[in-house]
This record gives sequence, C-alpha cells and structure tokens, in this order.
Amino acid sequence: VHAVELTLGQKLNEGKTKQIFELVDEPGLVLVQSKDQITAGNAVRKDQMEGKAAIANKTTSCVFKLLQEAGINTAFKKLHSDTAFIAAHCEMIPIEWVCRRIATGSFLKRNPGVKEGFRFSPLKMEMFFKDDANNDPQWSEEQLLEAKFTLAGLSIGQCEVDVMNRSTVAIFEILEKAWATQNCTLVDMKIEFGVNVRTQEIVLADVIDNDSWRLWPAGDRSQQKDKQVYRDLKEVTPEAMQMVKRNFEWVSERVQLLLEPQASGRVVVLMGSTSDMAHCEKIRKACTSFGIPCILRVTSAHKGPDETLRIKAQYEGDGTPTVFVAVAGRSNGLGPVMSGNTAYPVINCPPITPDWGAQDVWSSLRMPSGLGCSTILSPEAAAQFAAQIFGLTNHVVWCKLRASMLNTWVSLKLADQKLQACTI
Ligand SMILES: Nc1ncnc2c1ncn2[C@@H]1O[C@H](COP(=O)(O)OP(=O)(O)OP(=O)(O)O)[C@@H](O)[C@H]1O
Ligand SMILES: *[C@@H]1O[C@H](CO)[C@@H](O)[C@H](O)[C@H]1NC(C)=O
Ligand SMILES: *[C@@H]1O[C@H](CO)[C@@H](O)[C@H](O)[C@H]1NC(C)=O
Ligand SMILES: *[C@@H]1O[C@H](CO)[C@@H](O)[C@H](O)[C@H]1NC(C)=O
Ligand SMILES: *[C@@H]1O[C@H](CO)[C@@H](O)[C@H](O)[C@H]1NC(C)=O
Ligand SMILES: [Mg+2]
Repeated sequence: VHAVELTLGQKLNEGKTKQIFELVDEPGLVLVQSKDQITAGNAVRKDQMEGKAAIANKTTSCVFKLLQEAGINTAFKKLHSDTAFIAAHCEMIPIEWVCRRIATGSFLKRNPGVKEGFRFSPLKMEMFFKDDANNDPQWSEEQLLEAKFTLAGLSIGQCEVDVMNRSTVAIFEILEKAWATQNCTLVDMKIEFGVNVRTQEIVLADVIDNDSWRLWPAGDRSQQKDKQVYRDLKEVTPEAMQMVKRNFEWVSERVQLLLEPQASGRVVVLMGSTSDMAHCEKIRKACTSFGIPCILRVTSAHKGPDETLRIKAQYEGDGTPTVFVAVAGRSNGLGPVMSGNTAYPVINCPPITPDWGAQDVWSSLRMPSGLGCSTILSPEAAAQFAAQIFGLTNHVVWCKLRASMLNTWVSLKLADQKLQACTI
C-alpha cells in the first residue's frame, strides 16, 4: 500500500495503541494511525513488532471490509498505509460491548459454577464502562441509561442502547459465520461504537484486531489463535514470542479468505415473453445487490417446451448451483414444467395484473403431486428467497441477508422514535 500525501490537521486523540488526526482536506474524516510500539534500541524486538503491526493491519482492514460489504454501518472508509486507515470522525461511546457464544475467561470468574464451554444460544451480551482507573467495571443497561451520555449532539437513550445491543449481535453472527468457513469458532468478541459527528449515526468504530476476539480452531481451546496465547505465556522467551507471532500470522492468512465466497451460484430467470422484462429486471437488480449473478432467458413452456427443456439442460450441465425463477403471466405453465423436470429449486414469480391476477395466481399454486416449486409475487422477494437458498452455503450472501435484517430493524426503530418526537 502506497501512502498518498494527506495533510494532517490537529491530533484529536491519542491512546495506548493509536493516534487520531484531523484531515484538513476531508472534513468529517480522520486518520487512525497505529502507534509505533517499538521499544528503543532492541533490534530483535523491533523486527517482531514490525511483523505484528502489519498482521494487525491486515486483520482490521479485512474484517471491516467484510462487515462493510455485508452492509453494516462502520466508521472505516479505506486503508491509507500499512499502519493507518481513514475513518469517519466519531465521538466514541465509552462502552465495550461484549458478545459471547461460549463461556470462558472473565465470564467464568463473574459467574462461578458455570463451566468453561457452556454455549449461549441466544448469544450472551455484556457491557463494560471504559474506565481504566476502575478496571472497566461491568454495567447494566440501567447504568448506561442513567449515565445520560451525549456524544456529537446525540443523547444515548433507550433507542440508542437497543441499536448498539442489536448491532453487536448481528456483527458477532456475521463474523462467526465467516470464521466457520475456516473451521474456526468465534468464541467471544468485544467492540466499540461511536457517533459519526457528521451524520449523528451510531456506527461500529475503533478497530477489530487480535485483542478483540477469541478464536478456537475446530472449537478446540488448546489451539487458540488469539491474544490469549500471549496472556497465557509463563515466560516471554524469543521462542514463545515466535509462537505468538505464528498464531497471529495464522489469523491474518485466513482473515483474507473470509472475504471470498465459499460457493458460487446463479439465478436463471425464465420469462414467457419479453413483455415481462421490467419485472425480470427487478429480480436481476435485487440478485446483484446480493452479489448473485442473474441471467435472463425467454422461453414458453406452452409454445416451445423443447426449448424450455434444452435451456434447463444447459444450466444443469455445467455444475453451477442454480435457482430457476419462472416469470409467466396468465396461465403459468413454465414454473411447474421446470419444477417437474429438474432437481434444482424453482421459484414462480408471476407478474400479476389487476384484472385477472386473483384467478391467474392459482396456476402457480395448485400443483400436481411431486412438484416443489414455491411462489413469490414480489420480484425483490423472489431474489431474496434465492439469496437465502445460496446463503445456506455461501457466507458472503448470508452476511448480506443478516446485515439487511439489522438495518431494517434499526430504520423501523428510528422511524418510530422520530414519529414519537413529532407527536409530543
Ligand atoms: N473513528 C474514530 N474517531 C475518533 N476517535 C476514534 C476513532 N476510532 C478510535 N478512536 C479513539 O481513539 C483513541 C485512541 O485509541 P487507542 O485504542 O489507542 O486508545 P486506548 O489507549 O486503547 O484507550 P481506550 O481505552 O479508550 O481504548 C481511543 O479513545 C479511541 O476510542
Ligand atoms: C496485537 O496488535 C497490536 C496492534 O493493533 C500490536 O501492537 C500488539 O502487539 C498485538 N498483540 C500482541 C499480544 O502482540
Ligand atoms: C495491510 O493490509 C492491506 C489489506 O489487506 C494489505 O494490502 C497490505 O499489504 C497490508 N500491509 C502490510 C504491511 O502487510
Ligand atoms: C441486550 O438485549 C437483550 C435482549 O433484548 C437483553 O436481554 C440484554 O439485557 C441486553 N444487554 C445489554 C448489555 O444491554
Ligand atoms: C474443515 O473441516 C472439514 C472436515 O473436517 C474439512 O473437510 C475441511 O477441509 C476443513 N476446511 C478448512 C478450511 O480447514
Ligand atoms: Mg482502545
């Protein structure tokens, strides 16, 4: 990565591991610069540290990219150099949100009697007030509400707390699903939110790095690859540090794979006539938003059944998993004929007209025995259902569906809050 010249403004913040700089030419954005951790004079030590900074860089940028592509609202904008990235300027909410799938670590100390390995379904949420002097005490939701924080002009009330709680669960599930493709269990995770100073939106901010999660390959604690290895070291010897570094490398090699879909697939839309093109384009557009290729074909099962079956054979023949969508007005012969002749899923998505729609739809619903096609009237919903089918094996698609569910939930919540504020 080659650093483009940026004019740094004022230093806004500095912590143990990062400095935050204003960007003179990009109001509303900041540079998040990882600090040089290198201890003076020790060349051996320096070498190790440099390696680790780069590994941490890759981890953070890949994780944020995955979340961003899924549709999660984050502060991350783009990578700037090996050790810095550009992010939305946030006022940080001083809470660490912790999400757990498996009980381990400090949870066991706070909940004596619970054995390591206890599995939380639903996920267990905890929050900690960021207060170094008091060792980051655990807080209840009520304590957070009573603190009455205001950041970037936004008061942190029940709605904001609910949004952060929900977002943490969605972010965990997305990362958990992604790590599962590498046979790796995401055990727990801690994240922080900020209020974007320009939009006043709550966004995932700060970083997700080696210290933010526990990862157990094959669900096995003894193979843990996170910072816990470092904490558990009895003695910091060069060999031990090499092992810690190898573990971080293991993570950083795999974190890139999280961005790659595990399985490919496609949607093939068959339309009875080009008069249904606008309807089919809506299906294609929605498929594209999920990253699923979509092909449009014209064929009529009534007037050219030989061609319909030839087209079917063409897509069955190349081994790519396919969902067929049948778009036929009036009497839908297309979907049922496809469904009776392929083992791939078929979705009927008839373009319903006001005059005969109530009668026509029965040709998609009432099937002879042995046919398993489904019927979905909205073209966007038909694409979504296809995405859900692919999401079973393609985590990138699944993550988009999961983020979209969160975003819908959040916008409903905000719409209600706005309405309440207007009526008071
Ligand atoms: N996008 C952002 N905009 C503004 N501030 C940010 C952003 N991302 C991170 N920060 C803040 O920058 C500061 C420096 O980060 P660093 O992680 O080094 O702090 P720290 O020493 O770990 O302290 P803390 O306990 O607050 O995390 C932190 O207060 C962090 O919340
Ligand atoms: C984890 O990554 C940070 C950079 O974010 C790095 O400074 C630190 O050394 C790493 N952790 C350990 C235990 O080395
Ligand atoms: C930092 O991460 C980016 C994105 O993965 C990568 O292109 C770059 O090479 C990394 N830098 C180093 C020093 O590894
Ligand atoms: C998060 O939400 C869940 C479910 O509504 C609730 O049980 C839990 O107490 C909340 N956690 C926190 C830390 O606010
Ligand atoms: C995950 O485990 C399965 C079954 O043990 C194995 O077939 C597969 O190759 C593993 N995948 C990865 C990415 O390690
Ligand atoms: Mg920090």
